[in-house]
Amino acid sequence: MDARIPLLIDTDPGVDDALALLLAFNDRAHEVVGLTIAAGNVGLHHTTANALKLCELVGRSDVPVYAGSASPLLHPAPDAAYVHGNDGFGDIGYAPAAHGLQDEHAALAILRLSHVHAGSLVLVALGPLTNIALALKLDPTLPSRVARFVTMAGAVTGHGNITPSAEFNVYFDPEAAKIVFDAFPTFELSDWEATVAHGLPQDEVLAWMQAGGARADFYEAISRKTREWSADRRGDEWHSADALAMAWVLAPDGVLETVARPVDVVLDHGPARGATIVDWQRQLGRPDNATILMRYDRVRFHALVREALQAV
Ligand code: RIB
Ligand code: CA
Repeated sequence: MDARIPLLIDTDPGVDDALALLLAFNDRAHEVVGLTIAAGNVGLHHTTANALKLCELVGRSDVPVYAGSASPLLHPAPDAAYVHGNDGFGDIGYAPAAHGLQDEHAALAILRLSHVHAGSLVLVALGPLTNIALALKLDPTLPSRVARFVTMAGAVTGHGNITPSAEFNVYFDPEAAKIVFDAFPTFELSDWEATVAHGLPQDEVLAWMQAGGARADFYEAISRKTREWSADRRGDEWHSADALAMAWVLAPDGVLETVARPVDVVLDHGPARGATIVDWQRQLGRPDNATILMRYDRVRFHALVREALQAV
């Protein structure tokens, strides 16, 4: 019986997703029991290929990868190829992984694995929440079998990255985010604003990669485009949203401050679509469904990233 904590990651790789996966695969206390793949940063054809390649890179072609929904639940949304590259991995033209996807749909895999690991499963969402919303519509009892649900989503005071008020994962599928936020009695939310507050120094990240091996070399290549894009627009720090969320998953003792509040999602098609509305004064009398990350130990975060990049 594996004593490690089972980790199921729903993701849209994506360069920062890839860093989060490197952290997860480098952690001894957690076992990645599967990757369920969303469309988001780029289309599902690319996000699935990127997930398979990342597993092969770290010698974990045994980890099952499940394709999910190719589009949001209701309304089309733009991707983030301008950040991650057209293929989502910096357009470096890597050789495809030798292995393939599982036949099972991501939503069904989420439900099945929640039974296999009932009560101990840590479910992590690093992309749009479409697959998890589909799983919840198929079986609303999913949250009862999940020990922790941690999601990189939202912008808790309305400082978005894809629109002035919305963060990409929620904006890509706001209806899915609403279904998920309403379904889990409690969940852990690592938002865009926490990401910006915990930027990674570009020069240090580069030095960590230059001191690494095959994983670092691959990551340096696939991340070059987005790091250069970020340096041009966001300065000396590079913001890896999914890596911060994964640090919280793997090392919750690195958390310095969280706050619990009700969080809702704007679904209309106006300028606030996809915004995450936090009831900071608890004016609406709704339960505190979200535990929001406010501060994480930077030294711990940087160490997790450095060790993952330099792992062999
Ligand atoms: O807003 C940042 C989030 O959107 C990250 O998960 C990134 O990978 C994209 O999915
Ligand atoms: Ca992502």
